[in-house]
Amino acid sequence: MLNFELYNPTRLLYGKGQIGEIANLIDKKSKVLVVYGGGSIKKNGVYDQVIKALEGYEVVEFSGVEPNPRYETLVKAVDLIKNEKVDFILGVGGGSVIDGVKFISAAVYYEGDTIDIIQKKLNVNWKAMPYGAILTLPATGSEMNCGAVVTIEATQEKLSFSGEVLYPVFSVCDPTVIASLPVKQIANGITDAFVHVLEQYITFPQGAPLQDRFAESILQTLIEIAPKILKDPTDYDAAMNYMWCCTMALNGLISKGVKEDWVTHAIGHELTVLYGIDHGRTLAIIGPNLYSVMFDTKKEKLAQFGRRVFTLEGSDDEVARLAIERMIAFFHSLGVATKLSDYTEDGEKAVEWIAERFNERGWLAMGENKNITIDKVREIVKLSL
Ligand code: NZQ
Ligand code: ZN
Repeated sequence: MLNFELYNPTRLLYGKGQIGEIANLIDKKSKVLVVYGGGSIKKNGVYDQVIKALEGYEVVEFSGVEPNPRYETLVKAVDLIKNEKVDFILGVGGGSVIDGVKFISAAVYYEGDTIDIIQKKLNVNWKAMPYGAILTLPATGSEMNCGAVVTIEATQEKLSFSGEVLYPVFSVCDPTVIASLPVKQIANGITDAFVHVLEQYITFPQGAPLQDRFAESILQTLIEIAPKILKDPTDYDAAMNYMWCCTMALNGLISKGVKEDWVTHAIGHELTVLYGIDHGRTLAIIGPNLYSVMFDTKKEKLAQFGRRVFTLEGSDDEVARLAIERMIAFFHSLGVATKLSDYTEDGEKAVEWIAERFNERGWLAMGENKNITIDKVREIVKLSL
C-alpha cells in the first residue's frame, strides 16, 4: 500500500427531513445564491422545502444548469454573484448542478481567464466561495468530493478539475427526493457508482485488502439493492442505501493508498461530447471492453472480483473472463445497453476522434500501470462499437 493522506471536511446530513436543517449550517447573515438545473426541483417539492428552510436569509436564484454543465452557462452565475454580493452558494440537484457550483465557487475569486480552470485542469488552490449541496440524484459522489466535470460548448471539451477547497461545506442527502427520478436516471446512477468503484479497484493486487473489501462491499450492496430501487424508488431503505453507496463510491476513501485507473471515464466523457450519451451509460459501453483489452494486467483483480462479488469458481483466467460477462449482464439488468451501436449509427468516427484528442492532450500512457496507450484506446473503442 502507498503512503496516503485522508482529508474530507464535508459534513453529511443523511436521511428524511434533513433539508430543513440547512438553516443551522449557513451563517444567518449570508446572502445565498440557490443554483439549480432545469426545474425538476420545482415539480417534486424540493424547491419549496429549500425556500422554506432559507426563510430569513437574503436569497438570489440561478437556474438552468444543464446536464453535463456548460462553462458558457456557469460564467453567468459568476457575474451574478459579483453583482449581487452573494457570499454562500447552495446547489440543489444532481452531479451536474453540484459540479457547476464547484466551478462557480472556484471562478469567483480566480484572477485569470476562468476557462483555464477547465482547459488547463488547474488545481484549485486559491480561495473558493463556500457552498453546500442538496443532492437530488445519487450517482456521482460529487456531494462529498472535490472534483468536478465541466463541458466547454465552444470547443466541445468535457474535462475534470479538482482542488481541496472545492469540498462542499455540507451535503444533504435525503433519499425521499429520488421518488421523482425517471427509472433511466436511477439506472445511470447505479452504473456510475458501480464503475467508480471499478476504476479504483480493478487494477492489480496492491496489498490493500481493506480498500478491496470496502470496494467489494459497495459493489455487492449495489447489486443487492438495484432491483429493489428500480422497482420502487419510494422504498426508503433501498433508496437510503443506494444513495450511501454512491457517496461512498467516490468520496476518496477506497482509493487511499492505491493506484487507480479512470480511463473508462476519460473515454466516456468523449462519448458524451460526441453523441450526448448520458455519463453512466458511456461507462457501461467502455468499461467491460477496457477490461477485455487490458486483461493481462488486470486479470488478478478481475478474478478476485468474480470470486468475491459474483461467487464464481474456476481458474483465474476463467473467472476473470466470466466476471466481465457478469458485469455486462448486471448493466443489462438495469436496462443499460452496452454497445455504442445501441446509441448511435455513427460510432465508427469515435475511434480516431478520441485517439486524436488524447494525443493532442499528451494522454499517451494512462491507467494504473501507464500502459493504456493511444493504440489501446483505439482497440477499446473499436471493441465497444
Ligand atoms: O436539471 P433538472 O431539471 O434538475 O433535471 C435533472 C437532469 O435532467 C434530473 N434530475 C435530477 N434529480 C432529479 C431529477 N429529475 C427528477 N427528480 C429528481 N430528484 O436528472 C437529469 C440528470 O441530472 P445530472 O445532474 O446531469 O445527473 P448526474 O448526477 O448523473 O450527473 C452527471 C454529471 O456529473 C459528472 C458527469 O460527467 C456529468 O457531467 N460527474 C461528476 C463526478 C464528480 N464530480 O465527482 C464524477 C462522475 O464520474 C461524473 O463524471
Ligand atoms: Zn462517473
